[in-house]
Amino acid sequence: MKTIAIVPAAGTGERMGITRKKPYLLLNKRPLLYYTLTALDSITSIAQIIVAVAPGDERFCQQQVLEKFHFKKSIQLIPGGSSRQESVRRLLERVPDDTQLVLIHDGARPLITPELLEQAIAETRVWKATVLAVPVKDTIKSANDTLQIEKTISRERLWAIQTPQTFERSVIREAHQRASQEGFIGTDDAALVERLGVQVKIVMGSYDNIKITTPEDLVIGEALLKNRKR
Ligand code: CTP
Ligand code: MG
Repeated sequence: MKTIAIVPAAGTGERMGITRKKPYLLLNKRPLLYYTLTALDSITSIAQIIVAVAPGDERFCQQQVLEKFHFKKSIQLIPGGSSRQESVRRLLERVPDDTQLVLIHDGARPLITPELLEQAIAETRVWKATVLAVPVKDTIKSANDTLQIEKTISRERLWAIQTPQTFERSVIREAHQRASQEGFIGTDDAALVERLGVQVKIVMGSYDNIKITTPEDLVIGEALLKNRKR
């Protein structure tokens, strides 16, 4: 099954509170995006990688990431959109017609491993739509505007959703088309697929597969990387 990996990396990383855009922040001296691309590059069944970067940053990304490090696969850079969903929509437009599976992985999750990517792809061959996720560890409660607790949500059935999220191409294309027609904005791609009534299957992720969102995540990310090398 021809599989294409698409990587939304067109965000600016506002919650990092810094000037350099998040995909180029250094984690153990290498840009965040390097790690995601290296993991994807190692998967034989992935034919091609397409990355959405902030419009105007194509050259910068080419020089700082693609030319500085060695990647075996063809990596294409395209301008992203004003939201993550819009960046993914644009990426999907570039996916060749003869593709069967599309694997979507955030540029901001550098700790993804080849093993997890392989599992995601293998499970999607069976289930058509999968997301990596881990059981929620904290107790989750909902509260009103004045921070008074409304209720405690049973943790047993709660999962923290990660990427990769992997889909049959026809499924994710239809999901994005429908969302865009109906003005629906979801916080992940699976939410768009769920609206079609298509079952999305959870694949066990890893607590290491964190998203780099706020400054302390860089410290955690570096520690996890060092731990992995040992
Ligand atoms: N993303 C994107 N296009 C956008 C916004 C986000 O491709 N217009 C990407 C980010 O680059 C990131 C992923 O979507 O790889 C997840 O988004 P997030 O972690 O929220 O990153 P940012 O949007 O950059 O961060 P923030 O929300 O703090 O600004
Ligand atoms: Mg964001």
